[in-house]
Formats: sequence, structure tokens, C-alpha cells
Amino acid sequence: MRIPFVAGNWKMNKTVAEARDLVSKVGAQLREIPSVEKVLCPPFTALPALSAMLEGSDIGLGAQNMHWEEKGAFTGEVAPGMVKEFCNYVIIGHSERRAYFGETDENVNRKLRAALKFDLTAIVCVGETLDQYESGLTSEVVRRQISLGFAGTDSAFGARLVVAYEPVWAIGTGKASSAVNANEVLSQVIRPALSDLFGMETAQSIRILYGGSVTASNASEFFTQSEIDGALVGGASLKADEFVGITKAAAK
Ligand code: 13P
Repeated sequence: MRIPFVAGNWKMNKTVAEARDLVSKVGAQLREIPSVEKVLCPPFTALPALSAMLEGSDIGLGAQNMHWEEKGAFTGEVAPGMVKEFCNYVIIGHSERRAYFGETDENVNRKLRAALKFDLTAIVCVGETLDQYESGLTSEVVRRQISLGFAGTDSAFGARLVVAYEPVWAIGTGKASSAVNANEVLSQVIRPALSDLFGMETAQSIRILYGGSVTASNASEFFTQSEIDGALVGGASLKADEFVGITKAAAK
């Protein structure tokens, strides 16, 4: 049995005061949904304050990115050990990192290895662009992102691997993928690619999320699909009722 998983990727939103305010609204309600693994990924600047607020709760904290090196002359970057001071999770290879900051599958792989070394659970994002989708390249693109991104990862780390399938055309557009289409990519591309790398048993244990315009009203369509174990939520995670609604849907 894979435990349902819902993570909120706040992206570049919320000051510390705003972040505290949102957590004070969702905290108690999320704690009433113990059957779902819940993670908030605010900007780096809000991590210390939220880690103090969430101490002792079952709500996890994650970073949205990190560097793979442990320290050094990398101006503006944040090291895995620094993330680990506040978080148990990290998002790796989000499509916005790939599109705007030139992240490659090789970078993703380095970050993933660093995350595992520092005992972080890695939420690794994959997904095709609109052009790739329209050209029928979804399987090829996603398969490559998985095989290069996860290369050399020991199957013993299966429990700390989470994959988020986020078709780029569905992110922030209000045009979610159909649940059936997303489930097909998970069952026909992602889980088989994980199985090639880690073997069937480990592949079956890895949580795979859907991300892209998930809301409280469409969440259950996704969560009732056989392969979709949860969601990586962007815009809707900034609204207390929406995020709580999505998490409740994951519990059913
Ligand atoms: P939206 O939910 O805003 O479409 O964003 C999805 C996403 O990118 C989560 O990482």
C-alpha cells in the first residue's frame, strides 16, 4: 500500500508573515487528515519560521530546489545540509527550474544523489512541454527524464523517492490533464521506467503524484485513478480551503 502524498509548492510566493498566516489557517485542519503524508514547500526564506511552527506535527516541510555541492563558492545557492536543517523533503527538477534556469537531467541526477545522501525525501518532477505533447513525444521525454534523472540510484532508497508527473502545458494554465490521460502516463511510462531501474517491487512502492492545475474540485478525479498516489499542487496550495480540500480528497 502506498500512502497518499500531497505537497504544496508555493513557488515564489509569500513573505514570512504571509507564510505564517497560511500555516495558521491550514495547520489544524491538515493534522486531522493523518492518513495522508502532507508537505509544504515555501520559499527558502520562510523555512526557519515554518519549521518552528510545525515542530512536532505530522506536516512536513520541503525546499523547492537546492544545489548538489555540500558547500563552496556558489553564490546564491543553498546546500543540501542547509536544507536538511529545516526540511525532510526537497523538490528536484521542477519544470520551471528546467525551463528558466537551464536545469538538465544530469543536474537533476546530481541533486537527487545529494538529497538521498542527506536523508531527504526527493520529489522529482518530470513532464513534457506542450510542443512535445502535441508531437506525441510524451513517453519518450518522460522515460528519458526518469532514466537519466534516477540513474545510479540504489533501490534501497525507494521509500525516499517520490515522482511528480507534471505536464508543462497543465501547470498554472487551469487546463489540467484528464485524469485518465495522466494515469496512462504513470502506468505505461513512469512505473515501467522505474521498474527497469529498480525492479518491479521497488517500482510498485514508489509514490507517483500528478501536478498541473489540481484544485479541490478536480482532485478526487485524479486520486481515484489506480496509479495516482497524490498531487503536487501549485496555485491551489496558496489558498487554505483549496489545499485542505485536496488533502481530504487524497484521504478517501
Ligand atoms: P499549478 O497547480 O499552479 O498548476 O502548478 C503545478 C506545479 O507546478 C506544482 O509544482
